[in-house]
Amino acid sequence: MSRLVIHDATTQAVLLDTQDAAEIAEALSPIGVRFERWEVADLPAGADADTVLAAYRPRLDGFMGETGAGTADVIRLTADHPQADALRTKFLSEHRHTEDEVRFFHEGAGNFILHVDGKVYDAHCTRGDLISVPAETHHWFDAGAVPNVTALRIFTDTTGWTPHYTGTDMSERFPASVV
Ligand SMILES: [Fe+2]
Repeated sequence: MSRLVIHDATTQAVLLDTQDAAEIAEALSPIGVRFERWEVADLPAGADADTVLAAYRPRLDGFMGETGAGTADVIRLTADHPQADALRTKFLSEHRHTEDEVRFFHEGAGNFILHVDGKVYDAHCTRGDLISVPAETHHWFDAGAVPNVTALRIFTDTTGWTPHYTGTDMSERFPASVV
């Protein structure tokens, strides 16, 4: 189940804890984050990337027409991935990108955790969630020690995906929530 927990970044006090998709979207909107629930395509588990992309093509085309994003691909991270630990570590420290980070969760789950204006927004995204993290927003991503996620990545410019680390210990102070 999708969940958003908002903490005060200084005191760590919980300011909001909700599993309601409409409330999640409403709470993320003021910081420019788009959160939507899309209908999940009915595909066999582990369907290949082209099949996943084709299944969402009408939604993707609509989204791209609206946002100007131009390309999409599919990333799959499971515990048996040979670089699972390295991939987890790469995005686990607070960082930013020069373009929006847009993900749609086709299978599995992961936490996007955003650090904005003295608050930490921990968004546990699950199957059917679309989240768009604006360029320059400080954030990190954690799929957990036993990752299981298949997600669409939607790009304006693929070079914008490079993480620029902020050098803080925020991700250690605010480990991802679990549901
Ligand atoms: Fe990122």
